[in-house]
Amino acid sequence: MKKVLITRKLLKSNEKRISKIWNAKLNLNDENYSQNKLVELSKGCDAILSSIADKIDMETIAKISDSVKIISNFAVGFGNIDIKAARKKNIAVTNTPDVLTDATAEIAMLLILGTARRAIEGMEYAKNQNWKWSADFLTGKQLDGSRLGILGMGRIGRAVAKRARAFGMKIHYHNRSRLNKDLEFGAEYHKNIKSLFSVSDFLSINCPATLETKNIINKKTLEFFPKDAIIINSARGDMIDDEAMVQALINKKIYALGLDVYNGEPNINPGYIKQPNIFVLPHIGSSTERTRTAMADLAIDNIEEYFKTGKCNNIVN
Ligand code: GLV
Repeated sequence: MKKVLITRKLLKSNEKRISKIWNAKLNLNDENYSQNKLVELSKGCDAILSSIADKIDMETIAKISDSVKIISNFAVGFGNIDIKAARKKNIAVTNTPDVLTDATAEIAMLLILGTARRAIEGMEYAKNQNWKWSADFLTGKQLDGSRLGILGMGRIGRAVAKRARAFGMKIHYHNRSRLNKDLEFGAEYHKNIKSLFSVSDFLSINCPATLETKNIINKKTLEFFPKDAIIINSARGDMIDDEAMVQALINKKIYALGLDVYNGEPNINPGYIKQPNIFVLPHIGSSTERTRTAMADLAIDNIEEYFKTGKCNNIVN
């Protein structure tokens, strides 16, 4: 029986399946393992089923047991793993695409609606029973007729576009390459980010974290946006230069900011917390019971397929 280290607690049905097929080292207390503990626990294991909270960098890869042949990340993103170092050590790394597209697009819509309609401020007034009707009370921004820029028109970007279109938004996007017409559904392609940002009443960040996209929203590029733009990020914190963004909120260059992801999670830049016009969530883009179950099932399938065939569709390195 294969021996597999599961670094975090999973939903019951997934753990049940795992216990039937492998000699599994489960993490019943859901402890956030240190890199040293992860290395220690990997001894004698054939595979690791990891989460985005595990920072599996070059040093950790070097120390991981030679018996480990695959790291199956329980996420579509894999910025937490040094995939090149893994490849050098002949360790396959896999991810869980597709199954979380809809749930993540729903969170992006929540961020768009929450920022535009000032939901957090409204909730505070309502909870404190400290409000009365007036014509200009909490007037926000309307989605219908607004332009939504999408940075990264992959699966999740396209799922956001589909939902936003139903709200009457006009879709613009930038991607490394233009989509086929049949995938655009009338969305307007922009060759560069300056062109995209300058028409984005709203911007939804949906690109992967790479060297090219790191801090792509910075002091200079924030200037490209129309006044009172709203920016939301459901991808990875790496794309935003936090100091520049805090300043843009303070200067009211940006109307509101919606975030589900952060640099240095689970910490959030303290500059954000003081701003009234932020809508922040604790990285729950894929967190519905159905999606988390499907993600873990796919992470398990990836290991199974690799054990059986030495191949897997979802290898990323
Ligand atoms: C979630 O953030 C993921 O990458 O799956």
